[in-house]
Amino acid sequence: MSTAVTTTPDETVAAGRALAARLPPGSTVALSGELGAGKTHFVRGVVGGWGGAEDATSPTFTLVHEYATPRGPVFHFDLYRAASAEEIWASAHDELESPDGLVVVEWADRFPALLPPDAVRVTIVHHGEGRRLITIAP
Ligand SMILES: Nc1ncnc2c1ncn2[C@@H]1O[C@H](COP(=O)(O)OP(=O)(O)OP(=O)(O)O)[C@@H](O)[C@H]1O
Ligand SMILES: [Mg+2]
Repeated sequence: MSTAVTTTPDETVAAGRALAARLPPGSTVALSGELGAGKTHFVRGVVGGWGGAEDATSPTFTLVHEYATPRGPVFHFDLYRAASAEEIWASAHDELESPDGLVVVEWADRFPALLPPDAVRVTIVHHGEGRRLITIAP
């Protein structure tokens, strides 16, 4: 487990970039943290860590958004408005189990049963003005 404190949004992007750079295809990153914690900023870094454009936004009205990168697709889920695990699985099981891609899930803790046991768990919490505490496990 590792922890880091970031003091700017760009540092949170950089933390995502550093994590993704060492993740192989087929990995899942499960992001937890309250509204505005910085999950989407972390996702921008994850996409960037595989060489993609760091322009992710929360896919508010779609369950999943795909970013093409030189290393393969990054599938960005946002489960904030998702109704049920069954619905998510029915509409996006291919993306969730992509062997060539990277899966990164905002609000992952809402549907823990959807996540593989070896998912990398990232938790972001407010830690003072402009600061965030990021915990990555394992
Ligand atoms: N150290 C920091 N790291 C990340 N974001 C920060 C930091 N300090 C301030 N912020 C601000 O916090 C907000 C984080 O927004 P972001 O959309 O990444 O959060 P989120 O967790 O995805 O939110 P949501 O739950 O609505 O999807 C942005 O407005 C950003 O500028
Ligand atoms: Mg978000």
